[in-house]
Amino acid sequence: MEPIVVIPGDGVGPEVTEEAVRTLDALGLGLRFDVLDHVNANTFLQTGVALGDDDVERVRKAGSVLFGAVGDARVETPEYGAGVLLRLRRELDLYVNHRPAFLLDDRLSPLREKRHRPLDCVIVRENTEGLYAGIGGTLRGGTSDEVAVDQEITTRLGVQRVLRYAFTVASREVCMVDKSNAVPFGGQLWTRCWREVAARHPGTSTRHLYVDAAAMLLVADPTQFDVIVTNNSYGDILSDLTAALAGGPGVAASANINPDTGAGLFEPVHGSATALAGHDKANPVAAILSASLLIEHRGHREEAAGVRRAVRAAVAARRCTPDIGGVLGTRDAGRAIRAEL
Ligand code: IPM
Ligand code: MN
Repeated sequence: MEPIVVIPGDGVGPEVTEEAVRTLDALGLGLRFDVLDHVNANTFLQTGVALGDDDVERVRKAGSVLFGAVGDARVETPEYGAGVLLRLRRELDLYVNHRPAFLLDDRLSPLREKRHRPLDCVIVRENTEGLYAGIGGTLRGGTSDEVAVDQEITTRLGVQRVLRYAFTVASREVCMVDKSNAVPFGGQLWTRCWREVAARHPGTSTRHLYVDAAAMLLVADPTQFDVIVTNNSYGDILSDLTAALAGGPGVAASANINPDTGAGLFEPVHGSATALAGHDKANPVAAILSASLLIEHRGHREEAAGVRRAVRAAVAARRCTPDIGGVLGTRDAGRAIRAEL
């Protein structure tokens, strides 16, 4: 089997991916890793390119990437992040961003009402188009008459394929979220595709919500949701909301995948968190759960479930970092999870 490409990146990325790699190693699956440790802000500042064409080819050949984070205060231009993460999403056509959120332990919920706490849902975010397509421009830049346009791209193919994927991971319901009452053109395309795809899945309950209502209902009672499928920007925002409901940025994992080709990039949602970097403070749970999504995607379902059980057990026993109620550093928190395997 091809090796897994590891891109540790910036900030806490290297520390948390290290724990994720150790955890995968501990499973004894004989996985091999190809670490691209030059893909980071230092390289960008020195050369102007962090992820080269040859790196993209390596990733393409490998098919799976374990990703840490990109982001550094010294780099102000959005071209850096776009040239790494968004480029990989686009070049590998990773059209699904699958972001599960489940409560690892009751104490991690910010909700007052106990019966509303145990959420277990997935945000299925369209990952290649919408406002992230990079189409737009400016007019009269820098003047008092400046105009900026970012176009939101919606295609029938893009919407259909992500909707179809959502039904493959649902256990009871798929809820489609848009804003078709106010953003009509793309919204109506989503709605038409939704009706067609939903009609082909009579065994699954379906629901359609506007994004503002979805945000409110998620906070009011997240236990009502199973799969939420939505566009790129609403998926970005709602997946941070569900991350907060599940215990915060330290526990949120994601899988950027192309279900047709098998390609995938797996990353913690938290980003580079540079203030914590280098101090053995970052929570490795999100990276380790992302690694479990990676091996699940490569067919190791049992082992992936085992990693999730180990994470749950370590967190329940408070053998974890301070952000989720423990006292351990990154390395010891990773060790505690491996001890539960
Ligand atoms: C995420 C991040 C990225 C996104 C940023 C870093 C471009 O917030 O993965 O959710 O918006 O997709
Ligand atoms: Mn985000």
